[in-house]
Amino acid sequence: MARTSDSPLVNSVFVERWSPRAFSDAPVGDDQLAALFEAARWAPSWMNNQPWLFLYETDGPDRADFEAIISDFNKPWSVAAPVIGLIASRPGLEGFMARTAEFDTGAAMMSFTHQATMLGLHVHLMGGIELDLAYDKTGLDRDETNILCAFALGHMGDPTALPEKLQAKETASDRMPVSSFAFKGLNADPRPAS
Ligand SMILES: Cc1cc2nc3c(=O)[nH]c(=O)nc-3n(C[C@H](O)[C@H](O)[C@H](O)COP(=O)(O)O)c2cc1C
Repeated sequence: MARTSDSPLVNSVFVERWSPRAFSDAPVGDDQLAALFEAARWAPSWMNNQPWLFLYETDGPDRADFEAIISDFNKPWSVAAPVIGLIASRPGLEGFMARTAEFDTGAAMMSFTHQATMLGLHVHLMGGIELDLAYDKTGLDRDETNILCAFALGHMGDPTALPEKLQAKETASDRMPVSSFAFKGLNADPRPAS
């Protein structure tokens, strides 16, 4: 489906961003990667603690380990992406601000993702990872670090190259209306049961 905005003022980047599974093997340039991390760098965080941590690989020596961390559910499509990464928060660095470490890290990931859209790239997040293996392979400390997600990054590829049952899903999804989640005043209507 083609996405439409209910507000004429919203920037097109917000509706143009979506999460495809078909990636081409066209590489992501170092300058593009630098722009994405620069966008993440400027995200807000409580007391400017900047608790995010990105680990990524392209075609370097750690590629096979990154692919191994992806769950079998996500592996069939995501290993085609030229960049695979992990995103973690570092609540251990934050003291009392640990409460919002994931919130801040999400903001950085969204900045990264929107910058990707602006460069004609796509990001697909994957909560489906082998978490124990991710800690094992990265050596990150579970008490200091919260591995949240993996991501695939690259240029959109040919959807007909996907396994058949994924081809049907290869379309940008819709959203609930703003009226279902934004309320003026202190009283929110409960979210309707779906
Ligand atoms: C925290 C998080 C985890 C996700 N995990 C997966 C995943 O494991 N596999 C997958 O195919 N998509 C995953 N997604 C992508 C969502 O399914 C997708 O963002 C959502 O359906 C909305 O679609 P859109 O991004 O195309 O707008 C994840 C997204 C988020 C934010």
